[in-house]
Amino acid sequence: MEHLLQIDHLDTTYTVHSEERILVHDVCLHLDKGETLCLVGESGSGKSLTMLSVLGLLKNNGRITSGSIRFENQELQNLSDRELDKIRGSKISMIFQDALTSLNPVFTVRNQIEEIIDAHLNLSRKAKKKKVIDLLNQVGLSDHELILKKYPHELSGGQRQRVLIAIALACHPKVLIADEPTTALDVTIQAEIMNLLDQLKRELNMALILITHDMGLVAQMADRVAVMYAGEIIEEANVNDIFLRPKHPYTKALLQSIPDIEHSKAKKIEPIKGRVPENYDQIKGCRFADRCAFRQPACTQNVQSLKKLQESQVRCQFAEQLLNGE
Ligand SMILES: Nc1ncnc2c1ncn2[C@@H]1O[C@H](COP(=O)(O)OP(=O)(O)OP(=O)(O)O)[C@@H](O)[C@H]1O
Ligand SMILES: [Mg+2]
Repeated sequence: MEHLLQIDHLDTTYTVHSEERILVHDVCLHLDKGETLCLVGESGSGKSLTMLSVLGLLKNNGRITSGSIRFENQELQNLSDRELDKIRGSKISMIFQDALTSLNPVFTVRNQIEEIIDAHLNLSRKAKKKKVIDLLNQVGLSDHELILKKYPHELSGGQRQRVLIAIALACHPKVLIADEPTTALDVTIQAEIMNLLDQLKRELNMALILITHDMGLVAQMADRVAVMYAGEIIEEANVNDIFLRPKHPYTKALLQSIPDIEHSKAKKIEPIKGRVPENYDQIKGCRFADRCAFRQPACTQNVQSLKKLQESQVRCQFAEQLLNGE
């Protein structure tokens, strides 16, 4: 079956101080109609860069150096900027990581919602007005006239995020990429926004790529999960396999490092020691090796690729042995 979105062996390279660095390496991901894929991993693991690559939104010093990105059977890299513009914001939309800076401070909410409608849809004045009101209703902003006149700094964090969701949904996208959509919000608003996204996803039959650090959210939202570490996908599986049968030592460590609400007293939380290495593209062998509790001498020698193990894809040469308790 053809996937709605298919990323194969993607490498994204940035030139930093005249040195080329491969910051996203060999990323393979796919997304089907209506499903939710969660992309997880510690800060600096390449989650945002992977998705910015898909949308062709890398900074000037970044470029895709290999791999393919197909959306509805079309190779996105073969498209001109104009053709890609037609897809961006309409068929594939993104809610960016930083909600505060993604809205333009000098334009009202009305201007910013209308801008995306004008760019992609050819609507009469009356139809446009109705569309804007419908969008505000969809995202739970009911005081229409008041909200439309406001500037971003006059909105609360939750309202700002709702406006961004309205903008992202304006053209009824098939894929919505939400990059940490709730980290800047307090816990109750976080839950409201996530419920809203989940509900809209179902109503509009969208596929969702949700980037998050929050494994609780993953358990609640995901159909499938891809775990990134140091620029690579290290495990990909359906949500049950990730939580009940994690196979990569990093995924296991990630799950160990979160509190378990139901059994909070029984479970010992083990933070993962160390950090994602800065120059991870220079590492020979497994990129997680120096933090891995199961490290073997061969781990730092051999390049790891993603391999099928039961229903999961895992980038660890000892995963099968670990699974068998050897
Ligand atoms: N424009 C850039 N130029 C150079 N390096 C960059 C650039 N953007 C990101 N990086 C580097 O690429 C790596 C991956 O960054 P990325 O922002 O994709 O991580 P992330 O997984 O989204 O992290 P977070 O959870 O903190 O958002 C990091 O080492 C980061 O320093
Ligand atoms: Mg990010």
